[in-house]
Amino acid sequence: MLRFDDRVAIITGAGHGLGRSHALLLAERGAKVVVNDLGGALDGTGASTGPAAEVADLITKNGGQAVANADDVATPEGAHAIVQAAVDAFGKVDIVVNNAGILRDKSFGKMTVEEFDAVLAVHVRGSYLVSQAAYPLMKAAGYGRVVNTSSPAGLFGNFGQANYSTAKMGLVGLTKTLGIEGARNGIKANAIAPVAWTRMTEALLPAEFEAKFTPERVSALVAYLVHESCEATGEVFTVGGGKVARVFVAEGPGWKSDDLTPEAIADNWGAVMTEQPYVLTAADSMKSML
Ligand code: NAI
Repeated sequence: MLRFDDRVAIITGAGHGLGRSHALLLAERGAKVVVNDLGGALDGTGASTGPAAEVADLITKNGGQAVANADDVATPEGAHAIVQAAVDAFGKVDIVVNNAGILRDKSFGKMTVEEFDAVLAVHVRGSYLVSQAAYPLMKAAGYGRVVNTSSPAGLFGNFGQANYSTAKMGLVGLTKTLGIEGARNGIKANAIAPVAWTRMTEALLPAEFEAKFTPERVSALVAYLVHESCEATGEVFTVGGGKVARVFVAEGPGWKSDDLTPEAIADNWGAVMTEQPYVLTAADSMKSML
């Protein structure tokens, strides 16, 4: 059994849904957990200490160790306070699961800059800020595990979610670079793109999905990714309904010419669009252009 005894985990947005499920699972397996949640509505408005406190209480009642925190991941002060809560209660941070999220769906033409910025602030800035606040501690310890929460809507696009898709694909870049930079200090970062029945999706998914797409079926992957035995880093996985799959950004073999003109590209479009054999790294991409 993969256990987390003596590990300290911060789970953001853990007052509801997926984060709650991640927190309960890690705590059940021995982790000391900071249950962070701002406690607002789905669109990010409002705040309450209730949801975080409720989950932390449940963990304690079940015999685990947890503290509640209701700071905002999207501000530097909030992110530092979340990490400080872990240090104050448990002395360190081994694991950060960036899960907090909001929705402000609107079709592209109607989206306001406020709606765009608010969504990027929680998902992208929040994940960056909380991870960065924990980073010096992880570096000093030579150990860390980070999971960022992307979305199939970001990886593949989704109507009405230009802000959310931008944020969720942004997290893929953040994850890949943190994976590269963290390598020499034992810090691994991966991203998940989940599907689960939560308050965020209950109005969107068919009713029969509730029993199959449980948050617990996502938390199983999160727990594996943040375990010390997991070697993966810089990877992205879809997870939902019991299925886990690697998602990768790849570059096809393409077509090249020393005399590249718009017409030549048009004439060779089929070759440009070919998918295999593909390369997976920036270095191999560069090499293939030589
Ligand atoms: P949820 O709404 O139940 O949970 C999100 C939590 O984040 C809420 O408890 C909320 O209070 C908290 N939160 C929001 N802004 C915050 C802030 N600034 N600081 C601290 N906490 C904040 O929704 P769900 O479904 O559990 O979502 C969890 C994550 O999974 C989100 O990042 C979401 O975008 C992502 N996701 C969920 C999918 C699903 O199928 N449920 C699909 C793809 C991604």
